[in-house]
Amino acid sequence: MTEATFTTGKGAQAPDPAAAPRDIRVWDPLVRLIHWSVAAGVFVNAAVTDPEKQPHELVGYAILALVLLRLVWGLMGPRPARFTSFPPNPLAALRHLWGLFHGARGVHLSHNPAGALMVYNLWATLIGMGATGIMMTTPRYFGIEWVEEAHEALFAWLMLSVALHIAGVLLDTALTRVNLVRAMLDGRKRLPPQGPAG
Ligand code: HEM
Ligand code: HEM
Repeated sequence: MTEATFTTGKGAQAPDPAAAPRDIRVWDPLVRLIHWSVAAGVFVNAAVTDPEKQPHELVGYAILALVLLRLVWGLMGPRPARFTSFPPNPLAALRHLWGLFHGARGVHLSHNPAGALMVYNLWATLIGMGATGIMMTTPRYFGIEWVEEAHEALFAWLMLSVALHIAGVLLDTALTRVNLVRAMLDGRKRLPPQGPAG
């Protein structure tokens, strides 16, 4: 576990949650701005733009640029935004999910280990969409079927991932009583009132 992690409720570990700060700044403005802009961009490209017209490409480039900027921020941004605070670790993700369904109420000051895997998946999928989208506009790959199919398949995967992402956020919020959506809006995680959670 990273130091940006502590546990409340059943299966509690030191430090005592009662002694921990109750209102903690986690997401800096750039992380929040990028998150909601990327989400809006995906919605626009999925539901509004005509894929054969230029606005679709421009929005796609913008999404790609924002994701790349976020990856740079993962190397040099504030601690919760850094990759070192949420390393990809499938075993830790399984342990986290197991714990969640067995009464542990881990509160993470970055992404929890299961959320971290999803975040890396979302970024990789978006980069894949951007790359195949750009390829379709080049003379070399224009009209090549597998590139179009890859763009479509990645989009289907993205939609499934986003659904699971939102379900995970809501589940974690319900179980830990820490409102993750609010934290992604105003940057702060508020711990539930003192005493065992759930
Ligand atoms: C196309 C839509 C979406 C995409 C591609 C997306 C992608 C992502 C990514 C990449 C992150 C990691 C943020 C970072 O570390 O910079 C993230 C986090 C987050 N997203 Fe989304 N998101 C989408 C929609 C939503 C929606 C609709 C909600 C609200 C229900 C939401 C709530 C959150 C929350 C609360 C976090 C932080 C989770 C945590 O505390 O670990 N996302 N999302
Ligand atoms: C990263 C976010 C992106 C999303 C969510 C997205 C989404 C989509 C969707 C839903 C389609 C329709 C697929 C179908 O036919 O069923 C599509 C097609 C397409 N997209 Fe994207 N796209 C993205 C990025 C890009 C980029 C960056 C470009 C180019 C620079 C691009 C160029 C195209 C082209 C050329 C098509 C095919 C149009 C045709 O049917 O001939 N996309 N995209």
